[in-house]
Amino acid sequence: MSKVEIRDLRKTYDGLEVIHGIDIDIADGEFVSLVGPSGCGKSTLLRMIAGLEEVASGQIIIGDRVINDVAPKDRDIAMVFQNYALYPHMTVRQNLGFALKQRRLPRDEINERVNGAAGILGLAEYLDRKPRALSGGQRQRVAMGRAIVRNPTVFLFDEPLSNLDAKLRVLMRSELKELHQRLSTTTVYVTHDQIEAMTLSDKIVVMNGGHIEQVGTPLDLYDNPKSLFVAAFIGSPQMNFLEGVMTDNGSLRLPDLSELPLGRQIATAGAEVTVGLRPEHLFLTESGWPAEAVVIEPTGSETQITARASGKTFRILVRGRTEVKPGQSITLGFDPQHLHVFSTAIGKRAS
Ligand SMILES: Nc1ncnc2c1ncn2[C@@H]1O[C@H](COP(=O)(O)OP(=O)(O)O)[C@@H](O)[C@H]1O
Ligand SMILES: [Mg+2]
Repeated sequence: MSKVEIRDLRKTYDGLEVIHGIDIDIADGEFVSLVGPSGCGKSTLLRMIAGLEEVASGQIIIGDRVINDVAPKDRDIAMVFQNYALYPHMTVRQNLGFALKQRRLPRDEINERVNGAAGILGLAEYLDRKPRALSGGQRQRVAMGRAIVRNPTVFLFDEPLSNLDAKLRVLMRSELKELHQRLSTTTVYVTHDQIEAMTLSDKIVVMNGGHIEQVGTPLDLYDNPKSLFVAAFIGSPQMNFLEGVMTDNGSLRLPDLSELPLGRQIATAGAEVTVGLRPEHLFLTESGWPAEAVVIEPTGSETQITARASGKTFRILVRGRTEVKPGQSITLGFDPQHLHVFSTAIGKRAS
């Protein structure tokens, strides 16, 4: 196990900079996710840590060692990819033991480690099968097993669950979490799926266009997004946003010139702000903001209502069930304490 430090790290492809000076601290044993939309630089950053991409400038430190110029095989890391990359002609046992055999470990030790990993991952009865005779989830477990047997100081994962169907993804997600709780190996996990990042991580790094937008615990990012980008990226269904101009009596003047009382003076009069409200913080009430229900989506435990008010579409998440029907007039309420306020011009949190 080891801490990982990234210092002012940059990457260029053909003279074009794609990672613009990134700093990250990952504590020993921590599970850190890199999230962000496609193309924001997650894989590039991970591959630099793995030693699969050259660094333009900056430092990568594992433990107390700057590893910029250390060969990938000597970095004491193990990486798991989205596409598993198993050897098709080898059995599960051979796949699991391959790296250890290459390192010329004694056969007894290889067997011990392979059996240990197979036990942890529930693969013991599949050790003599070839990958083609395994399900997607089992293949992904073998890919993880290959990382585990090496007993590395750091695990690197690049979207390891993306190729699995939705149900299996959720199952493997919690297996991964259990695995980390058990092994406590420092882990850097790349995903574009914010739910995966939320549920798995000690800490999340939100990336955007080769920069870091915000670093924090999952609930930190959820409760206190520092930018519109993070507010929109974290949380599903997405936060609702309302652009407008603050009046001097605590209301937001909306583009259709209607005024929405916010219950507190969130910014100075005349300020152009974007107000964010999470779907679970809107509720149906007797007197409030008039809206029309458009779509009702029950999941059993909760119901998502899509509604229109002041020409905008909103999502409301209510616990349990609702009698509301599409087309019905409803009134929406919210607690002013739950408002997120951003400067519309610069997209940063104002209060
Ligand atoms: N081998 C490459 N050559 C040139 N540009 C690349 C290469 N790999 C990635 N890029 C560019 O670097 C940026 C970051 O890519 P990547 O790290 O793959 O993003 P992510 O994993 O977040 O989707 C993108 O703009 C992408 O087009
Ligand atoms: Mg990627």
